[in-house]
Amino acid sequence: MHLLRVQIPEYRGLKNIDLTFEKDFKPRIFPLGSQNGGGKSTLLQLIFALLHCSWVKIAYLENMLKELRVPYEAYQHPLATFDIWYNDQTFQIEFLVCNDDYLKKELNIKDKFDPEKFPDYEKKENLFYITRFSSRDMLFSRVNNMTNMEESGIFLEDLAKKVFLTAPSTQVYLFLPQEARKILFKKDSSAKQSYYEYLNQAKAELPGFFTYDFIAIDAIIDFFKMARDSDFAEMIKAGEYGNSYKTLSNDLNTILGVGTKRIKLEPDLSGVTFEMEQGKETINLYPEDLSHGELSKLSIYAWLKSRQIVDAIVLFDEIETAFHPDWEYQIVSDLQRWEPNNQYILATHSYELCQALTPAHVKELEPKLLKPAN
Ligand SMILES: Nc1ncnc2c1ncn2[C@@H]1O[C@H](COP(=O)(O)OP(=O)(O)OP(=O)(O)O)[C@@H](O)[C@H]1O
Ligand SMILES: [Mg+2]
Repeated sequence: MHLLRVQIPEYRGLKNIDLTFEKDFKPRIFPLGSQNGGGKSTLLQLIFALLHCSWVKIAYLENMLKELRVPYEAYQHPLATFDIWYNDQTFQIEFLVCNDDYLKKELNIKDKFDPEKFPDYEKKENLFYITRFSSRDMLFSRVNNMTNMEESGIFLEDLAKKVFLTAPSTQVYLFLPQEARKILFKKDSSAKQSYYEYLNQAKAELPGFFTYDFIAIDAIIDFFKMARDSDFAEMIKAGEYGNSYKTLSNDLNTILGVGTKRIKLEPDLSGVTFEMEQGKETINLYPEDLSHGELSKLSIYAWLKSRQIVDAIVLFDEIETAFHPDWEYQIVSDLQRWEPNNQYILATHSYELCQALTPAHVKELEPKLLKPAN
């Protein structure tokens, strides 16, 4: 799966967006830069809401659609168009806002459009009904160059499982309910839930959504168990133990800085600790003793591995948060090593990160990043 092109005529601050992500570039890692307020987070969240939430949990997409301003005179209004590389072909998905007048004309109906009453509407223009988000406007999608609606359905469902978004928990998420976003800025809120409860609920309901601050220790332990079992299976099959366990330990130790800290699994597999040499002493650390950057890197690795994210489109917002410039540079080769079969789009402010790739990999929104003086 690869996102080749995204076009968004207008959404909030985004205007005339047309970005291409070449599938033959190696690695398939694309920084997305702009100054503050350039619209990077809005863009990643809109891609995620349309391609993931529309199939998984529509309410999150509906929250984003509340922000959409459709010109009054528009019969049919394009919200976004995506070109996707899938099964060795390019498919184009259009997300279109249509109103009742347009559908009356297309379907020859007199009343308000009701998808239940008109099961044949999909045959017209290959339109898939997604949701009605205002008294007048509805969202549809259409996959061009797929004539069979069943085939289009399978494609959109497959795609939804292959689109991921990860970002800092301090980010404002436009796909959360409006009341959730409002309470972030209110001192005495009478809201039923806190912002972080809304955020946790979204993470529970959207399998493609993750924030960096959460470390999946259970996932790391499960991984160790899987690696152990796979090594043992190799022993039975080929007469020699495999090296999955060793590779996993090495990966985790490399994340923490070669020679600095070593990860250790509790003998009863109940948890992990970290060993660190200090002078002649070896001290034991727990996950909560790790630094912000170490925790963040470890959690990204554990997330990618535990969710088995492969052949996917992975959107990262400010991945460099908490990283030293050396790690900002290094995260590109880390992602490539950890899971090279994904496409990564990294909204970033980091020059170090961009310098790990060619200038052609770097995509920009206005106002562009300014080059440092030296
Ligand atoms: N309805 C709107 N119309 C136009 N602009 C808007 C609208 N709503 C919000 N904005 C502005 O659009 C910008 C989008 O911000 P966004 O968070 O997407 O940018 P960003 O590139 O991720 O910024 P940062 O680098 O600071 O994270 C903000 O400056 C915001 O104030
Ligand atoms: Mg942002």
